[in-house]
Order: sequence, then C-alpha cells, then structure tokens
Amino acid sequence: MRTSKQQITLDPIPNGACKLCKNKAERRQFEDGAFCAEAPSVVDELPVRCVGEWAYDKIYRLVQYFGIFAQGMHKRWKGGINYVEICSGPGRCILRERGEEINGTAMAILQDKRFKYIDRALFIDRDQMVVGTLNKRIENLGLSHKARALAGDYTDKDGLLAELKKLNTNALNLVFIDPTECNVPFETIRAIATHLKNVDFIINVTLGTDANRNLTPSALNSSFEKVRRKYELFLGNVGFFEKPEVQKAAKQRDYSTLRKLFAETYKAEFEKLGYSHTDTRSIRHYYYLLFASKHSKGLEFWRKACTYSPHGQKQLDLGM
Ligand SMILES: C[S@@+](CC[C@H](N)C(=O)[O-])C[C@H]1O[C@@H](n2cnc3c(N)ncnc32)[C@H](O)[C@@H]1O
Repeated sequence: MRTSKQQITLDPIPNGACKLCKNKAERRQFEDGAFCAEAPSVVDELPVRCVGEWAYDKIYRLVQYFGIFAQGMHKRWKGGINYVEICSGPGRCILRERGEEINGTAMAILQDKRFKYIDRALFIDRDQMVVGTLNKRIENLGLSHKARALAGDYTDKDGLLAELKKLNTNALNLVFIDPTECNVPFETIRAIATHLKNVDFIINVTLGTDANRNLTPSALNSSFEKVRRKYELFLGNVGFFEKPEVQKAAKQRDYSTLRKLFAETYKAEFEKLGYSHTDTRSIRHYYYLLFASKHSKGLEFWRKACTYSPHGQKQLDLGM
C-alpha cells in the first residue's frame, strides 16, 4: 500500500467573535455549557466548542487512520463498516489561540471523502445540546440516512449497548472515544468489545492533563480514595496503586515512571481482551491516543496512518 499524506477536511475560517481567551477564568465568562456563547460558527451559525490548538493533532491522527481503514476494508469486509464516536462534541470547534474555526472530529470524519465507504455512523455525547447541534450539521450535509448523533453516557454501559445493539453484528467497527478525563470505565470497553466483536479502538487517554496531577496522591494519600477508584475503574485493574513499583515511583515523585506504568497497565488490560496489536501516539504533552486491534492488519494500517506527523514531518516506524 502506498503511504501518501491524505488531506483532511477542516474548513478553517477566522471567527472574528472569538475573544482569544488566555485562561480558564476568561473562558468561563463566555462558556454556555459545552459551547462558547460569544462565537457561533461563521459557517452555519450553530454553536462551536472552544479548544486548544493541539486539538488539530488529534483530529489529524484520527482522520488519517479513518481514511486508510475505510478505504482498505470496505471491499474486504462483507458485513459492512461502521464508525462509532463516543464523546463526539458538536462537530465544529474554535482554536482559541488564534480565533480560527475548524471541523472537530465528527465533521472531519463526516466530510472525509472516504466516508462514502461507511454503512452506519453513530456519534454519542452526554450533552443534549451537543447532540442536537451535531444532528443539525449531519442534516445540513444530507447524511442523516446513515449518520446520527444521540445522547449517551459512557458510564452507563447498558444504555450505550442498547444503541450499539441496533448495529449490524457482522460489521467491522471503528470506535473512537474522546473524553476529557481518564474516567471511561474499562467495563464499558469490555462490553463494547464483547458485543461488537469486530472492533478496533482509538482512545484518547488524558494522561498528561488529568492523570499526571493525581496519580501520586492517589497512590499515597488515603483522602484520594475517590480519585484512586476512578483510575482503577478506568484501568480495569484494582490492584494498580498497591503494586510495589507504583508505590516506589510515587514516593520518589518519579512522575514519568508513574505515567509509564499507568499506560502499560491500560495496554495490558486490552491485551487480556485479545487486543494484542496496540500502539500509542502522544499529542504533545497533554494526552496520547491508544490504538488497539485484535488483528495485525489494523496495526499495519495505523502505522501507515502515522507515517507523517500532524505537522508534516515523516516519522520513522520503529515497529515498537
Ligand atoms: C473532548 S470533547 C469531544 C471533542 C470532539 N471529539 C472533537 O474532537 O471535536 C468531550 C465531549 O465528551 C462529552 N462527555 C463528557 N462526559 C461524557 C460521558 N460520560 N459520556 C459521553 N459523553 C461525555 C462532552 O459533552 C464533550 O462534548
């Protein structure tokens, strides 16, 4: 397979109403739930989500893989191909550093030229306003016959499964999960993997933002019991914080070893589910994307998709 860098559809456009907020306190003045109340989209006048510019790196990585996956598998896989995004957002976002509006992950996928290979796409978000907004955007694209946004919560695995059960069980699925915290219960991952059977995952693990601050106190401080429990549920591994190497790293304030142990434990839980083909890619120091597949082909596609960094440099594939 040739590896050329595919263009992704971002529809960038300056949004003059953006206040270029510098910090959380400034943002809070303008936030309306998940949206910026000051700067609706100049493209469709619907709400947009305020993001940091590293969001582009994530969108880039996802869409590069999506394209190779959809194009590479639609003819080989007779049962059809589905795309499922959990934590979809409203489809359009605004880069606060420069007041530029771009497609979020959902719209970048929906407008990708390889979306034609997809049979069903589900975009799930907990926020009703987000869901309503994305459904309007899907309608504007004329894609409501095969794409739909719907309300769902990743902490409610039965509710999620009720929706996923409507998908064809012979299909091949790509599931992307994009939370802002390490709090998607591993039970939810296990339930999705068991029900959908043929599914590859891309998961945004917010190790640099959420977990970085809280791993050490979770290991050492009994008043962090609730946070510790959150991470244990996320990892699907209740003994993580008691492991001698975790305790040692926490006592030495060795944050990089702690992060590494956390990421390795998460990956190992996927391996227990049969996901023996995994890879991770950092998104600056904020988070990393975990790719997990049961098949070597999935990983081969992912590595091809990662041939170029989000900023255009060719990256060495060390096969690790
Ligand atoms: C990082 S944003 C998604 C951004 C989007 N994927 C993009 O890149 O354009 C996270 C989203 O998760 C949603 N969310 C938060 N908690 C959730 C939960 N428990 N279940 C489902 N969605 C949730 C929020 O409403 C928000 O829209």
